[in-house]
Amino acid sequence: MTATQTFPPVRTCPYTPPAEYADLPPVSRVHLPNGTTAWAVTRHQDVRTVLTDPRFSSDRYHPGFPRFTELPKGPRFNASLIGLDPPEHGPARRAVLGEFTVKRLEALRPRVQEIVDQHVDAMLAGPRPTDLVTALSLPVPSLVICELLGVPYADHDFFQTRSSTLLRLDNSAEEKAAASDELRTYLSDLISSKAAEPGDDLISRQLARDSAPDHESLVGLATLLLIAGHETTANMISLGTVAMLAHPDQLAALRADPRRTPHAVEEMLRVFTIAEFATSRVAVADVELGGVLIRAGEGVLTVGLAANHDPDVFPEPDRVDITRGARNHIAFGYGAHQCLGQNLARIELQVVFDTLFARVPTLRLAVAEDEVPYKEDASIFGVHRLPVTW
Ligand code: HEM
Repeated sequence: MTATQTFPPVRTCPYTPPAEYADLPPVSRVHLPNGTTAWAVTRHQDVRTVLTDPRFSSDRYHPGFPRFTELPKGPRFNASLIGLDPPEHGPARRAVLGEFTVKRLEALRPRVQEIVDQHVDAMLAGPRPTDLVTALSLPVPSLVICELLGVPYADHDFFQTRSSTLLRLDNSAEEKAAASDELRTYLSDLISSKAAEPGDDLISRQLARDSAPDHESLVGLATLLLIAGHETTANMISLGTVAMLAHPDQLAALRADPRRTPHAVEEMLRVFTIAEFATSRVAVADVELGGVLIRAGEGVLTVGLAANHDPDVFPEPDRVDITRGARNHIAFGYGAHQCLGQNLARIELQVVFDTLFARVPTLRLAVAEDEVPYKEDASIFGVHRLPVTW
């Protein structure tokens, strides 16, 4: 079949998948900006099939792996967990899984609440309008992941700028390689100092394990967690806030019954599916999917945003409805690589929405909704700034 579309298409409406998706057959050939092609899979069930079939690899360095930007040169970048296949992936994930159990993370909820309260206090004491991204969306998840990992938050400017360089689509491979090197050197030094002087944190606990990971693996894991731990959640906090402010009926329903907050969070995750291409794969054997033969070595884009708007699974998919019970969305992926930090992200989002909308009843956008600067130039969807007032 000839390729018809160039990926990734631009999101012109934050609540609706790009119109291009609607024209695609369920499994179709698409162009990538680097001149190669890949398969785009858009149905919810097909995406889940790909993400649970070991004939699809997560190895970003495998020839044919679909990419929108070049890989940085130098050492394998972000090879930790997200880029591993069996047999390496399972043991590497189990080694850190204990840090992310619901029980373990629920114990962090009071601290998350404290952090959110402090930032809302500071925001209310400051000038209006303000940028919610810098006042709340970014510092909250950043502080939480720093405390979990044992990374000094004082260095946040350093790692946030590197992290956003890595996630932008229009940066060169050289710029990304430099950002990645600087981040890895920083974390490598931090890990060495923790080896000498352990603290009460994830990195120190990994170092103390009987079968502790080698230094390079731990640098890879810490880099992944630091990047994944704050950019994603920060974008969801901002987008979720915009969505609630833009849908007053939904906000009223949420305020009327705080038990709806967890459902509202799932609906926000579904509607925006901010990391829709994080779940890309490459076939390592010939596979038939939806009547199409995907050959070994061909790339597959599991289009999470389209799957999360699949009308067979989510009726009236473009309607924001916090009561729909959207838990079977795949915004955190599906299968073996399903997001390790999902329950941490859920707690942060729940605490932020509960606190923000209760404590700032007059919260509103300080610009017209269509002037919100959405991140069309990043691999994780979000907003650059979010001017709000109250
Ligand atoms: C709203 C916030 C978040 C979203 C939407 C999100 C999304 C995702 C997605 C789609 C994947 C699957 C990648 C794949 O299949 O290849 C993933 C994996 C992962 N995420 Fe998240 N994530 C979020 C927050 C977090 C947080 C807070 C952390 C860390 C504390 C985290 C750590 C990870 C890790 C380590 C993986 C790789 C797991 C593996 O390969 O076994 N994420 N995330």
